[in-house]
Amino acid sequence: MAAPNVRGFFDPVTATWTYVVWSDTDTQKRCAVIDSVLDYDMPSSRTTTTSADAVITFVRQKQLQVEWILETHIHADHITAASYIKEKLGGKIAISKHILDIISTWVPIFQTADDTPADGSDFDHLFDNDEEFTIADLKARIIHTPGHTPADTTYIIEDTAFVGDTIFLPDVGSGRCDFPGGSAEDSYDSSRKLFALPDHYRIYVGHDYPPEGTRGPECMTTVGEQKSKNTRLHTGIDKNSFVAQRKADDTDKDVPALLLPSIQANMRTGRFGAAVNGIQYVKLPVNKL
Ligand SMILES: [Fe+2]
Repeated sequence: MAAPNVRGFFDPVTATWTYVVWSDTDTQKRCAVIDSVLDYDMPSSRTTTTSADAVITFVRQKQLQVEWILETHIHADHITAASYIKEKLGGKIAISKHILDIISTWVPIFQTADDTPADGSDFDHLFDNDEEFTIADLKARIIHTPGHTPADTTYIIEDTAFVGDTIFLPDVGSGRCDFPGGSAEDSYDSSRKLFALPDHYRIYVGHDYPPEGTRGPECMTTVGEQKSKNTRLHTGIDKNSFVAQRKADDTDKDVPALLLPSIQANMRTGRFGAAVNGIQYVKLPVNKL
């Protein structure tokens, strides 16, 4: 079996993990980039590419060819660098077909139908539930793991799962479920889909928020470790208890600082709105959230 190599890149500003996945046995040296970050300063509405450029430099140093640029979901806390990476390195940008639910919810709120295709065609590919595909000589498939958002997807690449915000490291627990279309019930069910994988499978998380003063950011655990140790979702916790705790955790949570520009741009693979007089814009609905 070909084994996925994984290199993680941590963005301390948004606590996001970006991954490059490749195989040593692939003669064409193809790779995937998962959940990249375009740095965005909200007060100045200015983008920079420090985070994405670190990924691009690594890919070039390893002489890898980007085959896929994958998104686990429409992020609400950072803007994806998918379009920027495609421009620099090529590759197909892909996400779950459930993004169509996100587009139909949010485009009317933003009034961005003019430059956000309703069929998700800014993406090169929309994955069906359980679709199988390959990254180099690695076998990959997706499973739908909603809860944090209705469109969350887990990519299972050989014995390694990239779960986005479906579940976090054992001492952190699970992702918030209070965004539109989020569901604590679905989040629990999605964790059980992951727990159906073999115990030795590796899990790479989309964010890490280490409890204050405990450890630095980490990114990997295993299915077995999650089943026994996840503070919110271990196998001894029933659905009702999880849902009650998740709802309590989500009560009065702050809206992420970059939620509005992130969702708006991420539905277009990280592009801002169509340029007017050479300038792109973000539309912010007032008194809507
Ligand atoms: Fe997220």
